[in-house]
Amino acid sequence: MKAQTEFYYGGDYNPEQWDESVWADDMRLMKKAGVNFVSINIFSWALLQPDEATYDFHTLDRIMDMLAANGIHADLATATAAPPAWIARDYPQSLPVDINGVRLLPGSRQHYCPNSPDYKRLAAALVERLSTRYSSHPALTMWHVNNEYGCHVSACYCDTCKLEFRHWLQLKYQTIDRLNRSWSTDFWSQHYYHWNEINLPGKMPTHHNPNQQADYMRFMNASILNLFKMERAILRKNAPGIPVTTNLMGLHKPINGFMWAKYMDQVSWDAYPDPFWNVPYDYFMAHDLTRGLKKKPFLLMEQAPGAVNWRGVNGVKTPGRMRLWSYEAVAHGADGVMFFQWRASRGGAEKFHSGMVPHSGDENSRSFREVAALGQELKKCRELVGAANPAQLAIVFDWENWWALEMDSKPSSLVRYTKQLGSYYRALRELNIAVDFVHPDEDLSAYKAVFAPASYQVSADFAEKVKTYVRNGGVFLTHFFSGIVDSNDRVYPGGYPGAYRDVLGISIEEFAPMPKNQVHQIHTPEGDAEIRIWEECIHLKGAEALATFKNGYLAGHPAVTRHTYGQGAAYYVGTQPDNAYLRKLFGDVLEEAGVQAPLTVPEGVEVALRQNHGYDYYFVLNHTGRQKMFVVSGSYEDLLNGKPEAGMITLPARGVKILKKQQQ
Ligand code: GLA
Ligand code: ZN
Repeated sequence: MKAQTEFYYGGDYNPEQWDESVWADDMRLMKKAGVNFVSINIFSWALLQPDEATYDFHTLDRIMDMLAANGIHADLATATAAPPAWIARDYPQSLPVDINGVRLLPGSRQHYCPNSPDYKRLAAALVERLSTRYSSHPALTMWHVNNEYGCHVSACYCDTCKLEFRHWLQLKYQTIDRLNRSWSTDFWSQHYYHWNEINLPGKMPTHHNPNQQADYMRFMNASILNLFKMERAILRKNAPGIPVTTNLMGLHKPINGFMWAKYMDQVSWDAYPDPFWNVPYDYFMAHDLTRGLKKKPFLLMEQAPGAVNWRGVNGVKTPGRMRLWSYEAVAHGADGVMFFQWRASRGGAEKFHSGMVPHSGDENSRSFREVAALGQELKKCRELVGAANPAQLAIVFDWENWWALEMDSKPSSLVRYTKQLGSYYRALRELNIAVDFVHPDEDLSAYKAVFAPASYQVSADFAEKVKTYVRNGGVFLTHFFSGIVDSNDRVYPGGYPGAYRDVLGISIEEFAPMPKNQVHQIHTPEGDAEIRIWEECIHLKGAEALATFKNGYLAGHPAVTRHTYGQGAAYYVGTQPDNAYLRKLFGDVLEEAGVQAPLTVPEGVEVALRQNHGYDYYFVLNHTGRQKMFVVSGSYEDLLNGKPEAGMITLPARGVKILKKQQQ
């Protein structure tokens, strides 16, 4: 496999949308900005193929040659994300159908049914030609399959999909009886006698069968993944040794990242935090999640240089913020920082999306100066390529659980997966604790602590794994409405939280969800803390109470518990406490587990550690608008300017340093 030797910097580059007279200026400005990697051909299918029998690669040939001549790596896209209009005309069944039965029209993008045989045939034919033509082109560095799979269309309700769904179910369950058991069809007279009675979970009078919906989400994820696998097989055959990626979308519900990453040589994702947020932890969490998919560095394939165009009000990235958030990605495992897009479009739906080169073309504009300065500076990060992000704490992340948890008919619709994880992640990040995201099937034994917030659906195997982990000395923590159902969304009998009851040493008599906006308190040794969303009636079965509820009929009952189990301990948080309490609790839990922050820094400053070739790299990032100072022991080199650093470190507002030190 062609190995990465440079730190990548660049973006989506669409020269075919510009007059050729602009291209020479592009090359000049790319040099000025330190660009060495561009994603091309993403939306060029219509240009490459005027009709079914005709292909025209002459513009792409010129672009590839131009990049090679300028020493810029091509991340060559397969162009299958937006089929040409003639495909919709000749094969209208290839268009996707929404839940209301409406067939979606061409004229924007991603207008294909993931199971359409015509789309698959035509996409495969294009990729076949593209990959044979460019397999040994000197610019070719990576394949960029499609673009943001499932971004706009992650579900299709057409007849092809219905038949494919039945087929998928038959393969999964083998007998209709097994399906009936898994879907609990004794309920509401839903029993099936024959596969051809089964429909897609389209519009129905009221609540859908939950596991029918879950299987449909699994099926749609698999259908879209099959498209990726189809292209990948062709690319592998024709261009072995060229790594294959597709740009994922972080916390993107329909696409099961752990499942996809198995088929990706390089994981990459597109991050678009809202610049109106000071510290967008959800997006920061997705860097760690994306690195976790393969436990390897990732590429930040897209971010906006400034504003996007698709929010109601599109905030600009004020001075320093684009740089700060770029280093945020690098600190958490990015080996490349790219943008959408190189030059802001003159026309089309995204013309008010910022580009690395603004509409004015002004290379003295603030935005271009920041883009160019960052590109030059990131050359110093070459030695970081491949660097590890050591973590002693794991957070369990499971797309299937996300799907199950957020289906309707639950005790509270306020319990949302990424919100719950986000609140835990934020508290951990404020403590500067490094986090790995792990799939439930992964080995946990190397981690000193494992957190599994909102793990509503857990397999019996995972529950066993947690027991063994804690028995052997691990520290485990979970929260309310976890360990409730098995992989078929059937409640574990015998009392909540079924799967975790023994290890947690508690049993829950009933849930008492709180109305939106209600705030209650828990009583803790350090004083009262605010709680929201959830209360419940917990009985201690070996655990001790660390905090108790204060309000209503639950007053005095346990709210947060700790249970010694074997050599380890299992913690349970039966409500959603405020951030201050979570920080305090996690601080205690992690102290017990022996997990520490890499350096001590003031509030508002982040520290993250990467390691490579016997060196430690401490990223210190100031997320505030004020200068911050702190003391370090030992001496370092600031990787970004080569200067020595020791004693008092001064970080300007939104400043970044990478403190390098040889490992002892
Ligand atoms: C996504 C797409 C790009 C572009 C950007 C705009 O990430 O992949 O083609 O539409 O959004 O923010
Ligand atoms: Zn379909």
